[in-house]
Order: sequence, then C-alpha cells, then structure tokens
Amino acid sequence: MRRAAHQLYDAPPLILDDPIAVPILGPHAAEIERTPGRDPANKPRPFSIALRAFLVARSRYAEDLLAHAIGCGVTQYVLLGAGLDTFAHRNPYPSLRVFEVDHPATQQWKRDLLLATRLPAPANLTCVPVDFERQSLPAQLHAAGFDSTAPSFFAWLGVVPYLTREAFRATLAFIASQPPNTGLVFDYAQPREALSFREQLAFDSLASRVHLAGEAFQLFFTPAKVAAELAAFYDLEDLGSPELNQRYFANRTDNLRLMGAAGRLVSAWL
Ligand SMILES: C[S@@+](CC[C@H](N)C(=O)[O-])C[C@H]1O[C@@H](n2cnc3c(N)ncnc32)[C@H](O)[C@@H]1O
Repeated sequence: MRRAAHQLYDAPPLILDDPIAVPILGPHAAEIERTPGRDPANKPRPFSIALRAFLVARSRYAEDLLAHAIGCGVTQYVLLGAGLDTFAHRNPYPSLRVFEVDHPATQQWKRDLLLATRLPAPANLTCVPVDFERQSLPAQLHAAGFDSTAPSFFAWLGVVPYLTREAFRATLAFIASQPPNTGLVFDYAQPREALSFREQLAFDSLASRVHLAGEAFQLFFTPAKVAAELAAFYDLEDLGSPELNQRYFANRTDNLRLMGAAGRLVSAWL
C-alpha cells in the first residue's frame, strides 16, 4: 500500500520507481486513498509519511545492493518474506533467478491477487512456501532448485521484527553457510526504550495495528546487538534515518523523509 502510495502521491524523482506497485493491489488499490497519511488532501501525518519513506528506501536500498551483488557474480536473489514485493515483475537481469520465500498463507494470498489482476507471471521466478517458525528454509529452498554452491543475495525486508530469536538465528546461520560474495540486507526495529517519547507513541500505534492483523512485533535489536549477530559477515553497513535521508532524500521538493530511530537497515557480506 505504501509503495503504491509513493507512486501516486510523492513528487518526482521517485525513490522506488515501481510501475507494478499499484496494479498488484488489484481491488485493494481503492484503499490507498482511505488510509491515513496516504492522501495528500488529508491532514499530513509526519510519522505516516516517514514510514512510507522508510518502506520505499528499504526496497530501493535492497535493489541497489542487488545490482552491486550481480556485478560480483551473484545469480540468485532470495526474497525472504516477499509479501507483495514486485521485483520479480520488474527484473531487468535476464540470468538472475528469483526465489520468493514466504509464509504459505501469504504466498497463496499473493497468488490469488495476481490471478485476479491478470498480471503476467514473471520469468525466472520460483515461489517457495516456508513458515520460518516451523519449517526448514534450506530444505524447502533446495527442493525448489536453489543452488547453495553459488553466491546469492538475500533480502529480508519487513520480516525480522515478527520472528522469534530462534527462527531469526536459524535463517541467519543458513545464510552464513553460503559461499563468499553472498550478501544480505534486512531491516530491524530498535527496542521501544531506545525511542523518544513522541516516537514511542507512533511505535505503539503501529505495533497495535500489526498485532491486530495477527503478526505482533517481538524481536528488537540495538545496532551493537545486530552487529554481534552478524559476526560471521563482513562489510557491515547499518543505516538509520540521518544516513538514509542523506543518501536518498536530500534536496527533495516534498516532505518525504525518514524520522526517528525506530527502523534501521543493515547489509552484510560473506
Ligand atoms: C510486512 S511484510 C513485508 C513484505 C515484503 N518483504 C515487503 O518488503 O513489503 C512481512 C512478511 O513477512 C512474512 N512472514 C512473517 N512471519 C513469517 C514466518 N514465520 N514465516 C514466513 N514468512 C513470514 C509475511 O508472510 C509477510 O510476507
């Protein structure tokens, strides 16, 4: 929804130019306007706009790093918890294999949505249903044709805060067992106590919305703690709002920019 709103409401140049973001919503596209902070005619809601900025920046960052990874010989892109990510529909790399790993229920929902919207099935896409809490990611990926002898790039966007520590570590250990030049990007949430009072209120509102939607936030890290989890990796880059604003949002003519300290993006390589 927020990536779609970005296409409709934000001033050019777009941070994430995604012509599929609106059509993939099918009948739900009508809901974009009704949701707070998405309609420019509504009273501006700074935290809602900042959340949209974070969501488009994290996809853009992942796709920027993917381009770098492909330059280093990566031929497989694994989206862990793909949701309604549309990269596979926009894939400009003919020899890149894309694996969309997701919870079976979410994957079925996306499949139904794609059938309803009649968007053509992307070439080079393999869908891999996996519940990170209950199933083996390596077994399911290998059964789907994933090649563990070749380097891959893993994007794990918008998923880590919903996982148990055990599921997070099991997935990270699998990625750490991949060949050199494998890369990883994910976003993580800082614990509530690391936030300002105003941001705690915005955080509580978002946490209660995702809780009501059946997926509660449960895993938080500080930058030091996330670095410790990534001890097997090299070239860590951990970006907060100031760094992402500097990289992607400088000189914009609209008010699209990140705020606060809740969400961070981290990338690392083997
Ligand atoms: C907020 S969405 C993010 C989707 C997408 N990566 C994006 O950036 O828009 C969270 C995703 O995590 C997936 N997810 C959450 N818990 C999961 C689990 N235990 N196993 C597999 N996927 C899970 C959901 O199915 C959903 O696709």
